[in-house]
Parts: sequence; C-alpha cells; structure tokens
Amino acid sequence: MNDNLHQLHCFGCGARIAGPEALPDFRCAECGDLFEVEYPGWVQRKGPDRPNPGALKWLWRERKSSSELLDQSGVWRFRELLPILDNFGNAVTLREGNTPLYHLTRTSKALGIDQLFAKHQGMNPTGSFKDTGMTAAMSVARERGFTWVACASTGNTSAAMAAYAARAGLRSLVLIPDGKIAWGKLSQAMDYGAVTCQLKADFDGCLTLLTQIVKEAPIYLLNSVNPYRLEGQKTPAFEIAEAFDWNVPDHLIVPGGNLGNSSALGKGFRELHELGLVARMPRISVIQAEGANPLVRSFEANHGASLEPVEAHTRATAIRIGNPASWRKAARVIQDTGGWCLDVSEAEIAIAKAELGAEGLGCEPASAVTLAGLKKLVKQGAIAANETVVLVLTGHTLKDADYTIDFHSGTLLTDEEARGREREIEALRRNAVVVDATPAAVLATLKGSAG
Ligand code: F0G
Repeated sequence: MNDNLHQLHCFGCGARIAGPEALPDFRCAECGDLFEVEYPGWVQRKGPDRPNPGALKWLWRERKSSSELLDQSGVWRFRELLPILDNFGNAVTLREGNTPLYHLTRTSKALGIDQLFAKHQGMNPTGSFKDTGMTAAMSVARERGFTWVACASTGNTSAAMAAYAARAGLRSLVLIPDGKIAWGKLSQAMDYGAVTCQLKADFDGCLTLLTQIVKEAPIYLLNSVNPYRLEGQKTPAFEIAEAFDWNVPDHLIVPGGNLGNSSALGKGFRELHELGLVARMPRISVIQAEGANPLVRSFEANHGASLEPVEAHTRATAIRIGNPASWRKAARVIQDTGGWCLDVSEAEIAIAKAELGAEGLGCEPASAVTLAGLKKLVKQGAIAANETVVLVLTGHTLKDADYTIDFHSGTLLTDEEARGREREIEALRRNAVVVDATPAAVLATLKGSAG
C-alpha cells in the first residue's frame, strides 16, 4: 500500500511541488520561503471518503493498548494525519510521544487559574520535544536512501538527530556553537555516535553554513526548515486535544527559538479543526527570552509583518537564536489564533523554572519561559481565571544541570538581573550544604530549613 498522500506547499508564493522535488535546503526555488506539508486528499475526499472524526478518535485511542511498534509511538499512532512515507514500515521510532500532561496544582493556586496544565515534552526518549519531529523526518531520510543526515543545533535537535540516525543505521553530522550549548546535550550527540563540530559561530551562523554544505554533498538536512520535522511536532496538539476529550484548551503557551515548534503545534490544531475533530483552536502564544526576542520586536514593530534579526544572548541556551527560520509560520499562528508574543527576563525565567521544579516538574530554562510568560499575561488581564491553559515544557531538567546548580548556589544571575526579585529568588533557592557526617549535624540542618 502506498501510504504517501502529501505534497509541499510554499508558505511564501504558494507554489506546490512533490515531496522529493524539494531542494536540499528546503527553500522554495521561486521565492526562497519555506514549505509546509499538505494533504490534498483530505480536501478532495469529500463525503464518505473523508476521514471520519469519530472513527479516527476511536482508532487512535485503541492503538494505545496495541503491541505493534508503530502504534506504541505517540507520533505514528496518529499516522492517518501524517501520510508522508511511501511505506510506514520505514518509520524510525524510539516510542516517542505519549508524554504526560500534568495539572500544576500549586502554580494554579498562586495564579488563580484552576485549569493550568503542563504538557511535558521533556519526557521523550532523548529528553526533548525534538524527538516527535525527528522520528518523522528521519523516516523520510531513510526511505529516500540517504546515508548522511545533519543539523545545526543549540543542543536538543542534535541529541535527537544523533539518536534516531543511530537507530536508522545512518551517519550524522552536528554543527553547534562553540561553548554555548549545555553539556548534557553535547554528551548525547557523542553517545549516539554523531560527528560533532563545535564552530566559532552562533546557532544562526551554524545553520547558514550547513545550508551551504548540503548543497554540495548528499546530506539530508534535519533542521526544522525540513517540513517533515513539523509534521511529527504537530502531534502533541493531537495528544492535548485527546487528553481534554477533544475540547481544546483556551490557551497554549510555547517557547520560541527557531519557531518551528509553535508553527507545528499551530498546524496540528488547525488540521484537527479543518477535519472536524475539534470545534475551535486554542489561542497560541509564543514566549521568547528578552535577549533573544526577534519575533517580539517584529510584533511590536508591525504585528509580525517583517523581522529584523538580532544578536541573541540568554542563559536559556536552547532559545539563543536571533534569526529564526520559521518566523513567518509562527507569526501566522499567533495572528490566526489571537495569541500573544511576549518576552521575559533572565530573572523571570530562573524563578519560573525553580517554581516548576518545586512542583516536582523539572524542565529546561527554555521551557520555563512559558510559565514566566503566563504570569505576565495573567497580570495584564489577558487570561481569565476560568480558562484552561497548557504550558508546553520542551526539555528535561537534566539537559542543563549547570543552570539549576548555578541558580541554587546563587551564581546564575548578576546583581543587575536579580534586582528587585532578591526575596523571591531567596525563597526558592535550595543550596546543597556541606555538613559533618553525624546525625546531629544533619538534623540541625533540617531545623534550619523548616518552614
Ligand atoms: N525549548 C527547547 C528545550 C529547545 O531545545 C528549543 C529549540 C526550543 C524550546 C525552541 O523551539 O526552535 O522550535 O522555536 N532548540 C533547537 C535546537 C533550536 O537546536 O535544539 P523552536
């Protein structure tokens, strides 16, 4: 059976091409913009041939108890909505997806929003949301016969790519900014056997260089400019809708770096809506770090009509990106859903991360921008107490343990960054103390930290 029902649609000029016709850098030959995967069959298949919402919902839930490899993946469980392969047998999976949705009980109370949840994408096989996109695009790479794959990365994409390449029996090349990625992520790329080049360049420079390289050698580009990545990354939208019994939440809050994830989640909810599986879309808001906020500036300047790259700086290294590739797609998602685009400070990120940690939900600093952004939105009166909110936590706390240790030992933030927030920060800090190896000394420490 041919499972492949897709074509590529240029986001800029509207050109349509067959999947294998895409250039190695995934830019449109006519206008240079990016492509989106589309499925003309859904539109053409009217009447009884159109996917039946009730049947799909039943089938996807049923697969959760199946022992088939593809059914056990939280991405391929939804394969009717990602027919991108000639044969689903070519899928490369590590049983990604099916991640937990947690109720944030304490933060709910503190913010006065009862229905506040975190979709923890850090609970994927390599510890970040990238796995859901990588399973999709790596499967295409394998099906099309590539032997090498590559990405530029702030760390998580490279970890995911290296793992999925290893599973597929492909070789992988990673370009990362020298000294600017968290060690946990670098160690993963090495563990999974990638050829790793640390370049004297930032993320944006690494991606530009890689774009040149893939034009000269038969290497498959696996950054989120590759539209198949976004097909996998749209599936958490399906999981979220399913978890709420197909009543979508009012708000979805997503961190923004290269802006692939917000674009993908927006596409996921849009497709559910178009196919009649849900009645509406959530408002999707994107939060950036103050020092890496080109989309926020773009919204302030002209509501997302054009974007000026910035030189990016933030300790949330995952989103240290000044020239995001998918900004047009993300801007459209925010505009179409009535969401917001905000930035948050280094102190706000650190505090939000510690608050999530105190709920037992560790995450990366880049993920914590979602809670920091939510707090701002609540203060501005943009989100009401009776609304349902889902924060997308993108990465696992152990990805960047240095950040956490620096925060708790008081070396993360400069005095300038912490100004005005000192008491809040002090209340959250849990520094490890050195004590004598006696019961009395340990019990004295307990007394000292009671309350
Ligand atoms: N959160 C984490 C933990 C990330 O690793 C990234 C991006 C983002 C948020 C932002 O997502 O780029 O889709 O807007 N990391 C990329 C990487 C760039 O190379 O791992 P985005």
